[in-house]
Amino acid sequence: EKGGYDYFMLKEIAEQPKAVADTLLGRIDAGGSLTLDEIRIPVSVLREAAKVVIVACGTAFHAGLIAKYAIEHWTRIPCEVELASEFRYRDPILDQRTLVIAISQSGETMDTLMALRHAREQGAKVLAICNTNGSTIPRESDAVLYTHAGPEVAVASTKAFMTQLVACYLVALYLGQVRGTKWGDEIQAVIRDLAKISGEVERVLETMEPVRELARSLAGKNTVLFLGRHVGYPVALEGALKLKELAYMHAEGFAAGELKHGPIALIEEDLPVVVVVPSPRGRSVLHDKIVSNIQEIRARGARTIVIAEEGDETVVPYADHLIRIPATPTLLQPLVSTVPLQVFACELATARGNEVDQPRNLAKSVTVE
Ligand code: F6R
Repeated sequence: EKGGYDYFMLKEIAEQPKAVADTLLGRIDAGGSLTLDEIRIPVSVLREAAKVVIVACGTAFHAGLIAKYAIEHWTRIPCEVELASEFRYRDPILDQRTLVIAISQSGETMDTLMALRHAREQGAKVLAICNTNGSTIPRESDAVLYTHAGPEVAVASTKAFMTQLVACYLVALYLGQVRGTKWGDEIQAVIRDLAKISGEVERVLETMEPVRELARSLAGKNTVLFLGRHVGYPVALEGALKLKELAYMHAEGFAAGELKHGPIALIEEDLPVVVVVPSPRGRSVLHDKIVSNIQEIRARGARTIVIAEEGDETVVPYADHLIRIPATPTLLQPLVSTVPLQVFACELATARGNEVDQPRNLAKSVTVE
């Protein structure tokens, strides 16, 4: 059942190229347009939506944070992302023109379910992004876009997260497509790049041995920090969450721009800091800013673990460890940059003697509020 792997988590990490491809299957037509007829929310509702609100928990929340960048960029519809457990208790502003997206692997997470019930009571339309056929969240939503990750057994989410990202990009691009934005050409190009991304994920998986070696060498550390900017920021949060839940280490993700507002005080000699570097192409100003962040923390003694695109040479002098990922469009980078962080956490947990598939105190689906 583990297909020759020691843990379900390893198997599920390895299944990611297929999970990504399966989630795209049948949703891009021969002409390179999206066909999401399964979204039963009428196109008129999607065209008229004045706001998107995403609710989710844990790793699914991180997928939602990434979706915000894509939705706002490609559609210009304002998008909020909120932890489902916080959402309904603050009396959120919702109406018929609000599109709520509830993201959940299991479809049974109580916090997310209560949030979507609240949203529907206020008249909002709810689209579920879910991995489990016929589960409660899609049954109670107006529409559902299923992720096709297949069953995820390990408690820590990996392939489901990747497919949640794919589904979020599909929704963002589809909203752009049905509404028509000035980014039409970019949307077409990104759809073509999405179709190729499964192969890129495969390539990343083939180069993970140095990451495993690095993880083993850090097994005695107490803290690891993660930094990112733009879509790399939620990736940093996800890297930190994986490390907490699997390795039981103190880990925190920060927006790199926030460093100087406090967290830089944490930097000390030999502290491992993972930095997710945006593409030097595209929004290059982000790239240059993060390179100076890396210089700042290294000058204060941090051990820098840099995740950067192939061909990005500017980071080389400041990287104690360099992890290469394939070049992708800026917004799609999380699909490749997350993979090394999953492998890193899994290997660190193993090196520390932890139960990888069943971390202490955690359950696969959280059906209490
Ligand atoms: C982390 C993890 C959890 C879940 C969260 C939401 O690896 O698995 O943070 O992402 O409990 O679960 P779902 O997606 O089932 O609603």
